Amino acid sequence: MVLCVVNQKGGVGKTTTAINLGAYLARTGIRVLLVDLDPQGNATTGLGVSRAHVRLSTYDCLVRGRAVREAALPTELDGLDLVPSNPDLAGAEVELVGQEGRERKLREALVPVLPRYDLVFVDCPPSLGLLTVNGLVAADEALVPIQCEFYALDGIVQLVRTVDLIRRTLNPRLRIGAVVLTMYDSRTNLSDQVAAEVRAHFGDVVAKTVIPRSVRLAEAPSHGKPVMLYDPHSKGALAYEELARELAARLAGLTRRAM
Ligand SMILES: Nc1ncnc2c1ncn2[C@@H]1O[C@H](COP(=O)(O)OP(=O)(O)O)[C@@H](O)[C@H]1O
Ligand SMILES: [Mg+2]
Repeated sequence: MVLCVVNQKGGVGKTTTAINLGAYLARTGIRVLLVDLDPQGNATTGLGVSRAHVRLSTYDCLVRGRAVREAALPTELDGLDLVPSNPDLAGAEVELVGQEGRERKLREALVPVLPRYDLVFVDCPPSLGLLTVNGLVAADEALVPIQCEFYALDGIVQLVRTVDLIRRTLNPRLRIGAVVLTMYDSRTNLSDQVAAEVRAHFGDVVAKTVIPRSVRLAEAPSHGKPVMLYDPHSKGALAYEELARELAARLAGLTRRAM
């Protein structure tokens, strides 16, 4: 199963969600691969991999046809591997233009390693450009973090339209599997209003677990660790642990139905 963590807005919690869900799911014995598809490489540094030490990156897999198996690095956590990114990836959009099948590069790169992992997270950049299109074409489901702030639903219509378009053209499997409310602040009415609005818009797809604003979540990446290894008792850690449980239960249900 490939989950693409996507929202063209920056700073909504995509990378935080990919790293921390990945970490908690890996701890339950699920074999997880996280693909850093953002040239900024926040998932890479957030998992303690220094960009200067990246030999093979997502860029090499997309543009140079290198094997994901070779690019994948183990992380501090057993069962969580990372395909690191570096700034070269910013050039990939331009280098791939004009290439046949440019939207399917990530899918093609991932297919050989799918038997090695139970779950692949793709951490998208904050745009709906060719990199994100590659993420959506490679995915079974889109996982959309939405920040509980005033402009939360701005741009969501465009995102949903993009997902629909890709389902009709390039990837009939694709659907929005989950919407996750992030940076919820219980002290403000605004957070509640936004949460209610998002639930009215997306219904059951919205995860029951809401991710609160938590300083520990913001600090953990500067230590190169998922919050689980940084401060497992913080409220942000407990929220991602619960979200992982919710997601795992749903995925187990899907697998059973497919059999
Ligand atoms: N629940 C949260 N509480 C506090 N800070 C958060 C939370 N989620 C993310 N952050 C911080 O907000 C910033 C943006 O989050 P990030 O996951 O990088 O977003 P994106 O990948 O969508 O750009 C980062 O500095 C991150 O550490
Ligand atoms: Mg990010």
